[in-house]
Amino acid sequence: MALTAVGRQVLLRQKFSFLRSTLLSVDRRVVNTCQFDLYSSDSPCSSAIHIINEEKWPVTLRQAFERDCHVVLDFITDAEEATLCDEVAPRLKRLRYEQAHWDDAIHLYRETERSQWSPTATSIINRIKTRSFGSDAQHLSHVHVLDLHKDGLIKPHIDSSRYCGDVVSGVSLLSDSVMRLRHKDDEETLIVDLLLRRRSLYILSGVARYDFKHEILADAVSKFKEEWIPRDRRISIICRDLPKSVNASPTDKPLDFKNL
Ligand code: OGA
Ligand code: MN
Repeated sequence: MALTAVGRQVLLRQKFSFLRSTLLSVDRRVVNTCQFDLYSSDSPCSSAIHIINEEKWPVTLRQAFERDCHVVLDFITDAEEATLCDEVAPRLKRLRYEQAHWDDAIHLYRETERSQWSPTATSIINRIKTRSFGSDAQHLSHVHVLDLHKDGLIKPHIDSSRYCGDVVSGVSLLSDSVMRLRHKDDEETLIVDLLLRRRSLYILSGVARYDFKHEILADAVSKFKEEWIPRDRRISIICRDLPKSVNASPTDKPLDFKNL
């Protein structure tokens, strides 16, 4: 894939050089990233990141994955979630849920993008960016807003490097969900489940972004470590950086989309 139409549009606009986040500013609420769990548990990974068939993973791959994939619980407050929802709701309400995405990766969704936010929302978005990207990353000015219906799902895909840079990070609103990652060369063995609690932030970079397909499980199969995680309507606020300019084709045309 596989980026949504909005993502494609967004990513055609700017050029940049990228530095991956060093993630050195440790927020004490950040307990759900692999590296910080070194302090707290006997598991090398966090309680929101479940590596399946771990014994079959090459050690170097596991280490790289743990470096490149993060889930931050309670990244935003209830009030901040309400602020973001209120801000995107009017626009989303005017759109119909679509049955299938243009490349068939997403079912029952509606989406838009937004570059102008209220001051409160702007500070939330800036916090997502600060936490997810290096200080000299060139951010997309537009943030992708994806509204997944209760019965919707996102099938396995890798965001196209033509339209998306080295980091994909998203905050989940309204519903918990499970994001499954499968290694592109061994989809049946090298699997990771992320428990994306409502109001959490996930960050995919490096191998997690480029070597693993990601998907959001449908409600009927939404399980994390055998526990069913009910999936309701879920809105994700997704920040991306710009693709390497060498990946962008001069023939790419902006897509038709509607701003919030
Ligand atoms: C996408 C995607 C994940 C999410 O839009 O490409 O994978 O959190 N979204 O909604
Ligand atoms: Mn994606």
